[in-house]
Amino acid sequence: MEKDVDITKAVRQHSEMDEFFTGGFAIKGQKVIPEKANQEDSAAVAEAAKGLERIADEVRRCRECGLGSIRTNAVPGEGHPNARIMFVGEAPGADEDAQGRPFVGRAGKLLDKIIAACGLKRSDVFIGNILKCRPPENRDPRADEIISCFPYLQSQIEIINPEIIVALGAPASKTLLNTNKSIGQLRGQFHEYYAGLGRAPIKLMPTYHTAYLLRNYSPENRQRVWEDMKKVLAELGLEIPVRGKK
Ligand code: URA
Repeated sequence: MEKDVDITKAVRQHSEMDEFFTGGFAIKGQKVIPEKANQEDSAAVAEAAKGLERIADEVRRCRECGLGSIRTNAVPGEGHPNARIMFVGEAPGADEDAQGRPFVGRAGKLLDKIIAACGLKRSDVFIGNILKCRPPENRDPRADEIISCFPYLQSQIEIINPEIIVALGAPASKTLLNTNKSIGQLRGQFHEYYAGLGRAPIKLMPTYHTAYLLRNYSPENRQRVWEDMKKVLAELGLEIPVRGKK
């Protein structure tokens, strides 16, 4: 009997995971994303959009570190100005540098699938990075670069004020949580991002970076990311998409 239960669970997990990466979810119920109060307040959204555009302009002019002089385009980030979920990656790669937009290469296509599997659209969320310019040969961000660039992300978070930050990979998780723990230790549970004095901490879910997932595309790793995202959806009170008839 015990075995039957395990098999059922394994089959369900497998089919969830399969759909997760093919984007074939049907959404149960009517309302997919209950909007946060100010996400529908057009004046608040317009104000936040203005603030984000000011930061984006500064980022595009920035020469605070050496990356500013070798980039093709800076990549400030994009998405809903009052998003409930904010994804934070590491740094732009070649495709992002060429287009000035975050997560548009292979890792970005996988992030798009994860967002779709959550029943969301890219325009529902905000996508940003720790570094706004591409490090040469996609090397790891250096401490001095993070120190120069992090204030831009802090300001973006302050304006967007998301309910949950999903930190993709070790550099994003470690920087936002100010910790040296590994992504393996951090992922799978909520942590708190301290947004500053007098502000409520923001829940932060570390998970594997999609580039790591592409390099280590095992059922176990995909399942781990999906479990992390299910926790995020549950925390926001959003329906967890299930397989069903369209
Ligand atoms: N990887 C990142 O961390 N950020 C991007 O924008 C693209 C790939």
